[in-house]
Amino acid sequence: MSNEAIKFNDVSLIYGTSTNQTKVLKGIDFNINSDEIVSIVGPSGSGKTSIIMLAAGLEKASSGSICIHSNEITVLNENELSLIRRQHIGIVFQSFYLIPNLSALENVMLSLEANQKYNMEDQAVELLTNFGLSHRIDHLPSELSGGEQQRVAIARALINKPSIILADEPTGNLDEENSQHMMELLFDYTKKNKTSLVMVTHDSEMAHKCDRIIEIKDGKIA
Ligand SMILES: Nc1ncnc2c1ncn2[C@@H]1O[C@H](COP(=O)(O)OP(=O)(O)O)[C@@H](O)[C@H]1O
Ligand SMILES: [Mg+2]
Repeated sequence: MSNEAIKFNDVSLIYGTSTNQTKVLKGIDFNINSDEIVSIVGPSGSGKTSIIMLAAGLEKASSGSICIHSNEITVLNENELSLIRRQHIGIVFQSFYLIPNLSALENVMLSLEANQKYNMEDQAVELLTNFGLSHRIDHLPSELSGGEQQRVAIARALINKPSIILADEPTGNLDEENSQHMMELLFDYTKKNKTSLVMVTHDSEMAHKCDRIIEIKDGKIA
């Protein structure tokens, strides 16, 4: 596997119809190496979430090239994209997307194949325990605080041991102390597993703890 985990080449993204277009990204280029920790910063509405969605193949680029471990993903169909996601990517969404009628443990194991669930249950419990949620394993999302839901969402992103973690404001709902703790867990995990981590954040202190900062401004890299 090449050392390049993610490569964007002249990527643009336009939302809307031909008569009412919003140009969100206007020619974005960057490489992120395996085992690199990179933050994406920029004003609200500058396209940070869009970059995460494009890298995960959950949004289609209007033009340009996006490679995940040397696989050009802009040409793939939905089945091929979901395979790439399953093989390589863990995503922490800005608004968690936990399934309301599943417990914390079931949410963490959601993306696993049926035949993996039995084997992976111990690991899911261990992950939740590491995240300070051993007493919340069988709770529903509605019975968890925002910070607890966020930790479940992060555990869910890590259960498959992804080589790339995409995290959209992963500490946005945590207080100072908890977000510090969460960052340590994420950084430890990425270092131990030689994973690349791409993290959108508003917190400049957190951004400066990353290996590199990519700043987005007016749809371009500043
Ligand atoms: N599905 C969509 N359809 C139309 N416009 C969108 C859509 N998603 C996002 N946008 C617009 O694209 C811009 C960038 O959004 P986003 O990537 O969410 O920014 P950020 O995460 O930096 O706040 C915003 O102006 C937003 O309103
Ligand atoms: Mg966003």
